[in-house]
Amino acid sequence: MSYEVFEVKPMTARIGAEVFGIDLSRPLSNRQTVELKDAIAEHAVLFFRDQHLDHESHKAFGRLFGELAIHSSVAGLDDHPEIVAIHADANSKFVAGENWHSDLTCDAEPPMGSILYLHTVPEYGGDTLFSSMYAAYDALSPRMQAYLDGLTAVHDADHVYRPLFPDVDRRYPCSTHPVVRTHPVTGKKSLFVNASYTTRITEVSKEESDAILNYLYQHCMNPNFQVRFRWKPHSVAFWDNRCTQHLATWDYFPQTRSGFRVTVAGDKPF
Ligand code: SIN
Repeated sequence: MSYEVFEVKPMTARIGAEVFGIDLSRPLSNRQTVELKDAIAEHAVLFFRDQHLDHESHKAFGRLFGELAIHSSVAGLDDHPEIVAIHADANSKFVAGENWHSDLTCDAEPPMGSILYLHTVPEYGGDTLFSSMYAAYDALSPRMQAYLDGLTAVHDADHVYRPLFPDVDRRYPCSTHPVVRTHPVTGKKSLFVNASYTTRITEVSKEESDAILNYLYQHCMNPNFQVRFRWKPHSVAFWDNRCTQHLATWDYFPQTRSGFRVTVAGDKPF
């Protein structure tokens, strides 16, 4: 695909591209928006350098791709409930997203995508890894693809968030989705189970479900499906949550890594 209003440099053949020549803090033209939608459809994760986003411009950028979602389990900022702080420092006991996951697949309509802006990054470490779930699906044998097509799986937030926020009265979301989903824009199939939220394939025994899910989680970790992003201050990552998983490394303790995330609402997987 060719782009006229900015430059797009792929980082791998399967996933990830850097975008040059665009200022996300300013209102974007229709043409820029159309090309960004083409670029995210083509590369699944886009990276931008030297951006200076305040909360309003961050939200305005997200709204180009859909309504903003309020996180179903983590509180947003007081004045900007659509924005979640992503922060780790010498006092942190955990960081968000340390295990492979797609965001909030526990929701009935999981997010379309997320936009993470980091203003402060450690001198070393703190990369984010992204994995293409198109590549993961495509690399399965035709027999395994046929086995998985039509199966559904439970995605539960309880075991993820209750230990972090032990609020006995709270109910966390739990939803059932197809194990293989079809992307509403590209029409391509991707694997839609992840080690953080998915607990059970519905149509088979617990033993069979555990074995298949463990195999798929290992399969998804293949480095050939991945791109690894080295953050600099004021970088932005925008990922399509419908066809990717990601993992935040925490290899920089006790340094500080800090920024904000906006999430774009999605639709019911099919
Ligand atoms: C997340 O899972 O959204 C956090 C990603 C990161 O901090 O790199």
